[in-house]
This record gives sequence, structure tokens and C-alpha cells, in this order.
Amino acid sequence: MKKSVSLIPILIAAMLIFYACRHEILFPVDNGGNNNGGASQSSCSPDSVYFVNDIQPILNSNCTMSGCHDAASHAEGINLTTYTGVMKEVKAGSSSTSSLYKVIIKTNGDRMPPPPMPAMPADQIAKLKKWIDQGAKNNSCDKCDTTDFKFSTAIQPIIDAKCKGCHNAANAGGGIDLSSYTTIKASAGSGKLYGSITWASGFSQMPQNGSKLPDCEIIQIKKWIDNGSPDN
Ligand code: HEC
Repeated sequence: MKKSVSLIPILIAAMLIFYACRHEILFPVDNGGNNNGGASQSSCSPDSVYFVNDIQPILNSNCTMSGCHDAASHAEGINLTTYTGVMKEVKAGSSSTSSLYKVIIKTNGDRMPPPPMPAMPADQIAKLKKWIDQGAKNNSCDKCDTTDFKFSTAIQPIIDAKCKGCHNAANAGGGIDLSSYTTIKASAGSGKLYGSITWASGFSQMPQNGSKLPDCEIIQIKKWIDNGSPDN
């Protein structure tokens, strides 16, 4: 009896999320097809924001959970798992007229991700804005160093960008919270962190609904775990 009573708030929250995911309004805009460079640069410019490195992971972590904007559910016809799908909501060069940007900065119940999920963090919103204003290109660069890196400069940024939207205190997929050093370390210690990102058998494949992390990032996480998961 006690158990079923304690489930009620969880059920209500789940229903709210489901309802909110189905009922947001995003108005597709015509991007005129004038974006795109498809360019891959070998080293990352600190002044540029890259779709493959920065934007797709942020969208995957915040928007593509099941029932929302993944390929299978594509709520309101919006699938944010591909560049083509994302560009239906973006006007290249103009964040202020891009529905994708307008909807994440809303302060009422129409905001995405929908309440009660947390709003996107300010740094991620700023990146999205900059990427759109820089022309919303399908670009990428290579910035991963497997010898000289730290938890704070490599591991945490990977998890913040690619995992935290589905693994925070308010939205802990599989009961796993990856929003702090302590909780990330716990998931490393259980073997689940490495098992899930290497798509090892017996683990769920992470990021959910996304592509596998680049090899270089998997190596960084493996080395960090093998070094005893330092808080450096
Ligand atoms: C789109 C949402 C989403 C994203 C992004 C995501 N996860 Fe998950 N994750 C889930 C959900 C939901 C579960 C629980 C259901 C399951 O195991 O598939 C889960 C389960 C897990 C588990 C438990 C796996 C197991 O087999 O017990 C780990 C560990 C995990 N995620 C780590 C990560 C890491 C690391 C990332 C980023 C590289 C990540 N997740 C990105 C939604 C997500």
C-alpha cells in the first residue's frame, strides 16, 4: 500500500512530461537552404561553434528523449536527431527568428525542454545562439587530446554536453544522476559508465538515441577511470 502511494508523484511527473512533449508549438521556418558548409576542420577554433561537436550533443541530451524529438516519436513532426531535422527549426544566421532558439529562451510553460524539466543551461543556450548566428553550418572539428586532459577540462564537459540533460536530479534516466563529480565517479566505479559508452553487452547503449561517443572521448574516459577517477 505504502509503495503505491509513493509512486503517485512520480506518475504525475511522468504524465506532465509526456503531455508537455506532445503539446509544444514550434513553427517551422524556411531556412532558404542557404546554410551548410559540411566542413570539417582539423583543429577547433575557440571562436567557432561546431554542429557535430557542440550542437548535436546538446540537442540530443536535452530534446531527443523517447516521446519527444527522437526519430521514432518526433513530437509535432520535429526530429532533432539529424542536421536536416534541426535545420527545419533554424534560420541560418538569425537566432532571433529561429523557432529552435525562440522556444528554449521562453520563460513560460511553452519553454523547451518543457517544465518540469529544467531549462537548458545558459552556456548551452549561448552556444546554440552563436552557432545559428555563425550560419548554422553542418561543421565539425577535432579537439580531443588523450594524453593531456583533466576531469574538469575533458570528462565533465563531455558528460555535461552529452549526458546531463537525461541524467540530472530532476530527470535521472535509469536512476543515474551524472550532474556532479561524486555521482559521475559512482557510475564509473560501478562499471556502468564505461559499459554504457562502449555499448558493451549487458549495458544500455549511451547516449540514448544518439551515436556512439568518438573513440578519442571513450579513451579519455577509460584513462580517467583507470587512473582512479581523480577530481582534477
Ligand atoms: C536522451 C536521453 C539520454 C541521454 C542523452 C543519455 N542517457 Fe543514459 N540513460 C537514459 C535512460 C532513459 C536510461 C535508463 C534506461 C536504459 O538503461 O536504457 C539510461 C541509462 C544509463 C546508464 C545505465 C546503463 C545500464 O546498463 O545500467 C548509464 C551508465 C548511462 N545511462 C550513462 C549515460 C552517459 C555516460 C551518457 C552520455 C554519454 C548518457 N547516458 C546519455 C537516457 C539518456
